[in-house]
Amino acid sequence: EFHKHPKELELASNGAFGKFDKAQLQRGFQVYKEVCSACHSLRLVAFRDLKQLGYNDDEVKAIAAGFQVPGLDPATGEANTRPGLATDYFPKPFANDIAARAANNNAVPPDLSLMTKARHDGAAYVYSLLTGYQNQPAELLKKFPDSKTGPGLHYNPYFANLNLAMAPPLTAEGQVTFGDGTKSTVSQMAKDVSAFLVWTAEPKLEKRHQTGWPVLLFLLFATVLGNLAYRNVWRNEK
Ligand code: HEM
Repeated sequence: EFHKHPKELELASNGAFGKFDKAQLQRGFQVYKEVCSACHSLRLVAFRDLKQLGYNDDEVKAIAAGFQVPGLDPATGEANTRPGLATDYFPKPFANDIAARAANNNAVPPDLSLMTKARHDGAAYVYSLLTGYQNQPAELLKKFPDSKTGPGLHYNPYFANLNLAMAPPLTAEGQVTFGDGTKSTVSQMAKDVSAFLVWTAEPKLEKRHQTGWPVLLFLLFATVLGNLAYRNVWRNEK
């Protein structure tokens, strides 16, 4: 009874005719880069994929160079890091899970590439989670005194077990300054990053939507044609 269903989230990509809003995806990427990437990787997305959001080659190269990716020292062959190239994938922000746990109250921040597919109501869930932090309701504590949110955890009614190790990442208006001048309220940043994570999970969504209708149209046409042919072939039989 304390766990809540996600809020409604209207995105351009919703529905069978849905398309991506590229300006929104760029804003969402900005939120990911400036806030979420401190803890979360996007291992299935390569920097060059960002061209689909409307960035040009030089912009992609600059974005990639701003990330450190795992590499090998050319002289010694030892593992080190180097600035990213367009062909690299978004790196993990922590050297390994032990380091990730040490920095996050013993929880590993999950990769976000497929998050909107992995959770029910994907984007709406992410949006609700980001905007849903609150104090633990008094009724809950009354009913279950042992359920008090532990140290380093945060109460969020949209999270399945109500307490999570991620502190609210979006807390202040203007935390990110959007390149397109959109006002960056917490709700706007949350919406945009959720939209961006729909794209990371399914970059070919638009293509799928665009392919479906001609296919259905063709099948309808083939059905009618088949029926006409059937009638023609059997027209003399009673
Ligand atoms: C978990 C999104 C920023 C640390 C999660 C989850 C999502 C998410 C969707 C998974 C919840 C689930 O399992 O259902 C985001 C977004 C961010 C952001 C969109 C940026 C706006 C951060 C930052 C940190 C962080 C900056 C670290 C300082 C964590 C941790 C978990 C987590 C530790 C695991 C929580 C647990 O299982 O208790 N985040 N996050 N996140 N995030 Fe973030």
